[in-house]
Amino acid sequence: MQTHPLLKSCADAIAEKFTVHRLFEATDRAALLAEVGPRIRGIAGGNVDAALMDKLPKLEIIANFGVGYDSIDTAAAKARGIHVTNTPNVLNDAMAEITIGLMVALARRLPQADRYVRDGKWPSGSFPLQSELTGKTVGILGLGRIGKEIAARCQAMKMRVVYFGRHRQPREPYLFYDNLIAMARDADWLVLIAPGGKATEKIVDRDVLEALGPKGRLVNMARGTLVDEAAMVDMLQSGRLGGAALDVFEKEPQVPEMLFGLDNVVLSPHQGSATNETRFLMGQLVVDNLVAHFNGEPLLSPVV
Ligand code: 8YV
Repeated sequence: MQTHPLLKSCADAIAEKFTVHRLFEATDRAALLAEVGPRIRGIAGGNVDAALMDKLPKLEIIANFGVGYDSIDTAAAKARGIHVTNTPNVLNDAMAEITIGLMVALARRLPQADRYVRDGKWPSGSFPLQSELTGKTVGILGLGRIGKEIAARCQAMKMRVVYFGRHRQPREPYLFYDNLIAMARDADWLVLIAPGGKATEKIVDRDVLEALGPKGRLVNMARGTLVDEAAMVDMLQSGRLGGAALDVFEKEPQVPEMLFGLDNVVLSPHQGSATNETRFLMGQLVVDNLVAHFNGEPLLSPVV
């Protein structure tokens, strides 16, 4: 069963190998579930809660398209003996690239500079001077697989890298903070790249944003749920937070309209992994996990 639209190459490959029912296309979801639910053995996609699992008594595996699987109730899956897979690693580079891109875009006001030229303003005067990444401190919240790729690229930008997470990683060369507020206070940039879900909900609250301060910049590449969005909007507006580059939001695709008028913000429509190359590989991993499972082989990237 497919729970939402998937990349064409992925959807086609799945349809070639399995009988697929598309839940998101059903006009009567309950009727489709009542009819085919008892026969469904696998899910491709996310958005799977315990109630859906209960309607699929033969479900064996959920293959999520994405590294983040916060839209799947993994505890419920585990309790029912259902496997869950995700798509790690193949998106690390794309994620790290766009993170640096958004940081430069915010620091140098690239969207505004582009508009400045298009609006014919250049002949009347130079675009104002901006700031740079070089020499600044970046605090990374979540030094996982993607976080490490971001850290390496920040080092290439001659930034000083520090991090906050559940544990110190002794093999990493960066300074570890066990206190997020302290890190936000010491950093010029705060990059969020930790998983969503209950454990990180609003971990970046008003206090953390206050600590980051009027010169600090927030970059959210993770999930909107990590941030107290209302506080962030309020503080960006009042200047108590210096700026933000945001790829994710609390209620996508809805973005707080208040942000549209702010000059200290760069907005991106959740496109961290959205390249042809990376999405193709993510799709392949979804298919490979399903095929491995139904061939009785080890899963490539299990999370449950
Ligand atoms: C989305 C992502 O999954 O991997 C993740 O966790 O957030 C993205 O890659 C993507 O929008 C897939 O539809």
